[in-house]
Amino acid sequence: MGTYYLTTPIYYVNARPHLGHAYTTIVGDALARWHRLLGDDVHFLTGTDEHGLKIQQAADAAGMTPQEFTDSIAPLFEEAWKRLNISHDDFIRTTEARHYAGVQKLLQACLNAGDIELDTYSGLYCVPCEAYFTPEDLDGNNCPIHKRPVEHVVEENYFFRLSRFEQRLLDFYAEHPHAVVPEHRVNEVIGFIKQGLQDFSISRKTLKWGIPLPFDSSHVAYVWFDALANYITAIGYGTDDEMFNKWWPVNHHLIGKDIVRFHNVYWPAMLMSAGIEVPKGWAVGGWLLVGGEKMSKTQGNVVNPLDLVDEIGVDGFRYYVLADTIYGNDGDFTYEGLISRYNSDLANNLGNLAARIATVVEKKCGGLGTAPSPNSTLAPIAQQCVNETSQHWEQVQPSRALEATWQLIRATNAHLENHEPWKSEPGPEVDAVMGDALEALRIVTILAFPAMPDTAREIWRRIGMTTDIENCRIPADTQWGLYPSGAPVIKGDPLFPRRTIS
Ligand code: MSP
Repeated sequence: MGTYYLTTPIYYVNARPHLGHAYTTIVGDALARWHRLLGDDVHFLTGTDEHGLKIQQAADAAGMTPQEFTDSIAPLFEEAWKRLNISHDDFIRTTEARHYAGVQKLLQACLNAGDIELDTYSGLYCVPCEAYFTPEDLDGNNCPIHKRPVEHVVEENYFFRLSRFEQRLLDFYAEHPHAVVPEHRVNEVIGFIKQGLQDFSISRKTLKWGIPLPFDSSHVAYVWFDALANYITAIGYGTDDEMFNKWWPVNHHLIGKDIVRFHNVYWPAMLMSAGIEVPKGWAVGGWLLVGGEKMSKTQGNVVNPLDLVDEIGVDGFRYYVLADTIYGNDGDFTYEGLISRYNSDLANNLGNLAARIATVVEKKCGGLGTAPSPNSTLAPIAQQCVNETSQHWEQVQPSRALEATWQLIRATNAHLENHEPWKSEPGPEVDAVMGDALEALRIVTILAFPAMPDTAREIWRRIGMTTDIENCRIPADTQWGLYPSGAPVIKGDPLFPRRTIS
């Protein structure tokens, strides 16, 4: 138990929220909810990245000022997260005053440390990435990510002397080999640093849509310098020291594999320069691909998560994105995959278990839950599932955590099939079988809560639990034997009606 500060990337407002954004945010939400169950004091931050050339261009294309434009899109993210039951504690927009104050403080601190200097730069710039590339990075003349031509840019800019941080960064990763999960992702970071680090420009003179440098207001801060700072400005850097000291350093920055360089090289170097502690951890996810391509506005293959929620329900959708892709690897989103996982894991497994238990308790136990046996064969299985589920959430592996939880669902369904209580006369034997099944379902419900909060609340209510599931604590409440006999059990409508591919 302690504090747990968790962040998602802040999303560019040139696009509406799509499946890729939803994926990262749902992983963050489930992780935040898991840590709250552990009893941690959690702060979960998300938000929007609103400055830079890309946004300026999108606003121009929409015939709006950048402020009008960002004001029209940022709320779409907040609405989407509401629909997806995201329990963030804060939502930062980089156009807020608290962010301006913090970014300027950070710039000044890096300048004072001697790590920001004026220089002329010429290079190849990709606007959708808001990043420079070297000729070797390119795919022909195209950006390797967006497959669009890069632009040749010559500018007098302020530079951050990243080259000075090579050794310090290598030392940091050598001393903290577990800071990045999954661990294979750190090799890429170390490899990149070892190639030699180039200083990077942290200001733009030609662009107006950004935060002015405190020491030269004819320049605005480079959008990535501005954006990365959100992780500290949101918790009070530059405005509220007490709050900042409470939450920083962050426990996990959740990021996509495309923004590792910014988060694992630029960002810790910026913090080191400013004399701020570096993050404790980063959890790097792969991409959720559609038809083998990263979903993006530029690729024109955007899936709107909210369309899927209408069809499959919030928890069906959340479960699918968490369970179907190993965090850190790429996943392929398919509609067929969504329906098939929903039917197998939710309709046939969890939904079926809850329905069966309620039906038998109604018919054979007078609708009142019975007591679990301390010596149940399910007890050690439940314990093992709790342990494994916990270890996987700890490693930011939601799919593996859910797989561990689902082992208990399968074991409980098998337990019912072996005993066939529906065929027996009411009496102590049926009571014992059902008490064990109810207890296993109670534990499953707590473990499944981070992924499917609404469903978990509903099962909790149906098995007669009167406490608030959010107040449960792991491991105290996931110990075997706590189901209160005599609680009224109700059946209700199917939790996950089977779906056919439409
Ligand atoms: N604004 C920057 C992040 C700044 S954080 C200080 C940015 N925004 S983004 O909206 O383009 O992407 C944000 C995150 O969403 C990235 O980590 C990216 O990997 C993730 N995703 C965007 N599309 C995605 C998929 N198709 N699949 C999974 N994640 C994806 O980069």
